[in-house]
This record gives sequence, structure tokens and C-alpha cells, in this order.
Amino acid sequence: GKVRAPTHIISTISDDRGEEPCYAGIPMSSIVEQGYGVGDVISLLWFKRSLPRYCTKFIEICIMLCADHGPCVSGAHNTIVTARAGKDLVSSLVAGLLTIGPRFGGAIDDAARYFKEAYDKGLSPYEFVESMKKKGIRVPGIGHRVKRGDNRDKRVELLQLFARTNFPSVKYMEYAVQVETYTLSKANNLVLNVDGAIGSLFLDLLAGSGMFTKQEIDEIVEIGYLNGLFVLARSIGLIGHTFDQKRLKQPLYRHPWEDVLYTK
Ligand code: ACO
Ligand code: LMR
Repeated sequence: GKVRAPTHIISTISDDRGEEPCYAGIPMSSIVEQGYGVGDVISLLWFKRSLPRYCTKFIEICIMLCADHGPCVSGAHNTIVTARAGKDLVSSLVAGLLTIGPRFGGAIDDAARYFKEAYDKGLSPYEFVESMKKKGIRVPGIGHRVKRGDNRDKRVELLQLFARTNFPSVKYMEYAVQVETYTLSKANNLVLNVDGAIGSLFLDLLAGSGMFTKQEIDEIVEIGYLNGLFVLARSIGLIGHTFDQKRLKQPLYRHPWEDVLYTK
């Protein structure tokens, strides 16, 4: 029989050994000829399967809506300061990306984890939020620095509208909305934020599309694929901010003394 030489690397998502590269077995020519979009490419390379059009469209909407949020947010600020320090594109980009985490843009996976656990256990929004409070954990996907109950995040509304119109079920999103109703009764800034909207809706996408087993869904949530959507999306904006600063020939940034409270 054949003797296989042991390999040091296993890879299952792409292959460039043939005449043309393949993503999850699909050759590049089919990807182009069949008019695949970036949502399809993400499906192939992240989930190793083609997803229905409403799913890939949803992924594309997430990418478009999270591409940028102005110069004042954590990521863009870091990128701008770095570009103004004369650093190159990659350095300016990663300086911004490094701010993505539990407070900013990187709460999608935890939102999915906690919403899923609470919903699947049948916890009421009150029981869920109060149990988080007891543990001293802020509810991921809830709260925003500038958005309020009377000034909702348009991105969240757009995602919800798309899902209500196109998804077979939005049970996790409806649960997140009930959680928001409860948290808003506590404080006006405790809205469902874009991380929470994507986290809960991606659970609906995974569960409702019929394309994933329960075990696969658990693995996706456990590994934490979903922050990848924000990282990918915001890279578009951070690259834009880098070019903007270079185009404007902005000098080295120095924070004004007046804006620092010097104290002992
Ligand atoms: N769950 C429960 N209580 C909260 C939450 C939350 N998610 N967020 C704020 N609070 C309450 C707490 O009582 C907090 O007091 P504490 O400091 O004792 O915990 C109080 O509100 C005031 O909080 P602030 O720190 O003033 O709120 P801030 O405006 O600075 O925070 C933030 C905004 C960071 C988004 C916060 O709401 C949070 O940590 N949310 C969870 C993480 C998250 O979803 N981040 C993604 C945001 S969207 C994005 O970045 C694209
Ligand atoms: C963002 O997408 O960057 C924002 O939601 C964060 C912010 O502070 O506005």
C-alpha cells in the first residue's frame, strides 16, 4: 500500500496546487463566473461551505455597516495617531485593530455565547441580566458610549429589519431585544449595540439556515468566529483613515496638556 510521509501542517480550507486556487474545493474560475461575492468567499474560507444567498447577504451587510464609525472611536483614533507618527500602512492598521476587544467591537462572540446559554436554558431576561450582575460581568452586546434608548443605533435597526424580512427564525435576536427592554428600564445607555445585534443574529443564522449541526454551532461559538466580522469590516475603515492622514500630511499628534487632569 501507499506510505504517507508524515506532515507538519494540516489545512482544510484552500488549495493552490492545481491550475487555479480553490476555496473549500471551489475553483477560482467558478467563484468569478458564478458572480460570488465577498459573503460567499467568507462562507467558503471560514465555514467551509456555500451558504444560501440571504446568509451571504447578511454577512456582507455586517461588513458594510461595521466598516467605519468615524474618527473618534478607539480603533480609528489609534490608527490616526499612528499614521501621524509617520508609521506605515500595516503598523497604522494593526494599531487600530489592537483596540478591538471586550469593550470595543470585540464583544460579538461573548454576546453570542451568553445570549445562547441564557436562551437555551430558558432564563428570563430579568434572570439573565441579574445573574450577570451577581457575577460582576457586564452583559456583552449591551451598552454604548453615545447611543441611547431615544437615539438608537441605525445599524442595529438595519440588521434587525433585514433578518426579520429574510431569516426563517429570529428567536435569539428577539431574546436579545427582550434583554434590551429590561436593561433600558435600568439605564438609558444600555441599548442593544451592534456587537449584540450581530452576535444574536448570527446565532439565528447558524440555527435557522439548516446548514450547521448543533455540534458545529457550538464549536463556532466556542472557538469565537464572530469577532472576525468586526475585525475584517473595520480594517476597511482603518486603512481609509491611514490614507486620509497621509493625504492630509498631518503632523505628529500630541495630546493637549489642557485635556489631561494632572493630579497626585
Ligand atoms: N451590562 C450591564 N451594565 C452595564 C453595561 C453592560 N453591558 N454597560 C454599562 N453598564 C452599567 C454599569 O453599571 C456601569 O457601571 P460599572 O462601571 O460599575 O460597571 C455603568 O453602566 C456605566 O458604565 P460606563 O462605563 O459609563 O459605560 P460606558 O459608556 O463607558 O461603556 C461600553 C460603554 C464599554 C460599551 C459598555 O456598555 C460595555 O462594556 N458593554 C459591554 C461590551 C460591549 O458590548 N461592547 C461593544 C460596544 S459596540 C462597539 O464597540 C462597536
Ligand atoms: C463603532 O462601531 O466603532 C462604535 O459603535 C463605537 C463607538 O464608540 O461609537
